[in-house]
Amino acid sequence: MKLVTVVGARPQFIKAAPVSRAIRAREHHARNNLTRITEVLLHTGQHYDDNMSEVFFRQLDIPKPDYHLGVGSGPHGAQTGEMLSKIEEVLVKERPDLVLVYGDTNSTLAAALAAAKLNIPVGHVEAGLRGTKQRIPQRWIPEEINRAVTDHVSSLLFCPTETAVKNLVQEGIVKGVHLVGDVMYDALLYNVKVANTTSKILVRLNLASQEYYLATVHRAENTDDLDRLSSILEGFRKISEAYPVIWPVHPRTRKVLESSPSTFLRSPLSSGKDARLQLIEPVPYLDMLALESHARCILTDSGGVQKEAYWLRVPCVTLREETEWVETLELGWNKLVGTNPQAMCEAAHRPVPPEPSVEPFGNGRTAESVVAVITCASMSL
Ligand code: UD1
Ligand code: UDP
Repeated sequence: MKLVTVVGARPQFIKAAPVSRAIRAREHHARNNLTRITEVLLHTGQHYDDNMSEVFFRQLDIPKPDYHLGVGSGPHGAQTGEMLSKIEEVLVKERPDLVLVYGDTNSTLAAALAAAKLNIPVGHVEAGLRGTKQRIPQRWIPEEINRAVTDHVSSLLFCPTETAVKNLVQEGIVKGVHLVGDVMYDALLYNVKVANTTSKILVRLNLASQEYYLATVHRAENTDDLDRLSSILEGFRKISEAYPVIWPVHPRTRKVLESSPSTFLRSPLSSGKDARLQLIEPVPYLDMLALESHARCILTDSGGVQKEAYWLRVPCVTLREETEWVETLELGWNKLVGTNPQAMCEAAHRPVPPEPSVEPFGNGRTAESVVAVITCASMSL
């Protein structure tokens, strides 16, 4: 069978890497054309800086994309629309049996719509995630729209957790649903040892294990609301009185800080190498895993980073009002604080939670399950 995989943004390269590896392993061993999967890789170009894109292909050994659409940044409609029309052209040419999409970005939505309109089945990896407070349409965040629409046009829904399966049931989606686990866990397990033996990031930043906090911020709900962003910055400043805060800054957030009229928001940009709040460029995946592994605590609004903190058993503080990854909250390793500086501080200084007795995100071999389901389904697609 022929599969077109569509990626475009940083977390999607990380999620696609283990599945692509499992497909190649299968191709190698396939005895006949029935079980052989040929993967065509399409990069929309949503993320394009070297440190947001190419570095992940190099580090994670992802094959060079067969198509690079070079769509780049833009308002939601323009960006998604351009992707939709360019992906459609590729799908018409390639005529795949399945289009595989990941997560909840505009690249996910565009690919799912393009495929569905051509009556090509869609497989969604990371299906069924929903926020708990997103029921009122006016308050929908972009990711929630992308997830919900993608799930409703997908034929194969690969759920990372039982909660995700239940969310789909609530929306009447029961057919084609597979509880497989989380492919990001596969990626982490495959790379963490190498990260901790080869990454020089701690030495380069002059950091000792357990003597710094790690932070990331990029969600539109935080970056596009200057009050929230100021509040987060105030929290980081407070927390950094105890130990330095290392902040690999997403380009979206850097642009907001740089163009802000507020001197407070611009202030961390001019901080030196030894500042308590240290802004650095986005780091490659292996450096990120090393930074995460040795942090006292991680403060983030990223979906992927919340889970990685949990898998590495590093306490996490989530700078949002809700999270799709409710299991990390229930097990005590994640704390939802919004953007209140005092709450951020208290959560960052809380004691380390007890070791969990369950593993809600699968066994780290999710990619193989995804490929097995696809192979099986290819007979009936
Ligand atoms: C996107 C996803 C978000 C995901 C995140 C992962 C959508 C709607 N959002 O958000 O769900 O969590 O990726 O990181 O798809 N930019 C650069 N260089 C780049 C990429 C972006 O400078 O390589 C800047 C541009 O100014 C751009 C802004 O970042 O306008 C936002 O990029 P965009 O891809 O639209 O959304 P993200 O915030 O990255
Ligand atoms: N990440 C990275 N370098 C960074 C920041 C994040 O490699 O400087 C990785 C992180 O380890 C995780 C993924 O990017 O695997 C998360 O992506 P992001 O936070 O951009 O998006 P989200 O998960 O919120 O959609």
